[in-house]
Amino acid sequence: MRIGVLTSGGDAPGMNAAIRAVVRTAIYYGASVVGIRKGYEGLMEGLMVPMDVSSVGGIINRGGTILETARAEDFKRKEKQKEAVDNLKKHHIDALIVIGGNGTLKGAIALYKGWGVPLNQVASTIDNDLPATDITIGFDTAVNTALEIIDRIRDTAVSFERIFVIEVMGRDRGFIALEVGIAGGAEYIIIPEVPFEFSKLVRKIEKGKLRGKRSCIIVLAEGSGKAEDLARRIREETGLETRASAVGYAQRGGCPTARDRVLATLFGAEAVRLAVEGKFGYLVGMREGRINTVPFEELEGEEKKIDLTKLEIAEILSI
Ligand code: F6P
Repeated sequence: MRIGVLTSGGDAPGMNAAIRAVVRTAIYYGASVVGIRKGYEGLMEGLMVPMDVSSVGGIINRGGTILETARAEDFKRKEKQKEAVDNLKKHHIDALIVIGGNGTLKGAIALYKGWGVPLNQVASTIDNDLPATDITIGFDTAVNTALEIIDRIRDTAVSFERIFVIEVMGRDRGFIALEVGIAGGAEYIIIPEVPFEFSKLVRKIEKGKLRGKRSCIIVLAEGSGKAEDLARRIREETGLETRASAVGYAQRGGCPTARDRVLATLFGAEAVRLAVEGKFGYLVGMREGRINTVPFEELEGEEKKIDLTKLEIAEILSI
């Protein structure tokens, strides 16, 4: 058996650990492995590299992805998918493991259902917005990185008695913002899943001022707007010194946490184990602390729910 492996979409810390797990598990089961560079783009262009045990040495602790990645817009086109399928045949690849998030999943379903390509996906995105898995590879590191930045900003916020609006990633979902907002003791968390009430935020800021709070951290999910815009609005409404700061791409890079390395290792190994058993069309993730494999059919049209009780608790505590 010859297994191809690729990473696609936004890179996430832990992707390298997943590649390592895929390559070494495949070799353990007697398969050979081909790495495909630059995700689906590389699949269309035939950017294949042979991989062995040594090619994944020393990468478990590295952020980014040694296979590189891309957002292959072209891959939505059928003729482009055919080029990818032809390349798989040309390179005698019998099975594919794709590592990525929602965009990757769309491509994986297109290949699996539309062209019958035997493949499994490893759940990996900092956004943690994939359905049927409680957590995705990269989320924990991204949250901890953003948290470190928020803690630092709190120092200057307190020193100056300033309000800070801190924008975090998450595309159109609020998983990162919610987690990091709770962990950072944010005074207010704004996520796309909940309609934003500006007057409620202003009341909270004023109440905090009255009880002598020296800082106010507002965590804003990027899907809910721009930090600069909200900071300006707050300044205009309250006259209080307000600054904006976006965590930006820093939260996508860096050394993966232990949790992400372990998840990546378990997910990667499981995706290959399924392939060796001839089982395809699965997303490998985690549910209630256990590895969870869900068939693609059950994922279509599914949207991951966010736990709003967490937001309620954060609101109660940030009096
Ligand atoms: O999906 C990961 C992510 O970092 C999102 O949080 C963000 O909205 C997006 O990717 C940014 O996309 P790009 O890498 O194309 O700039």
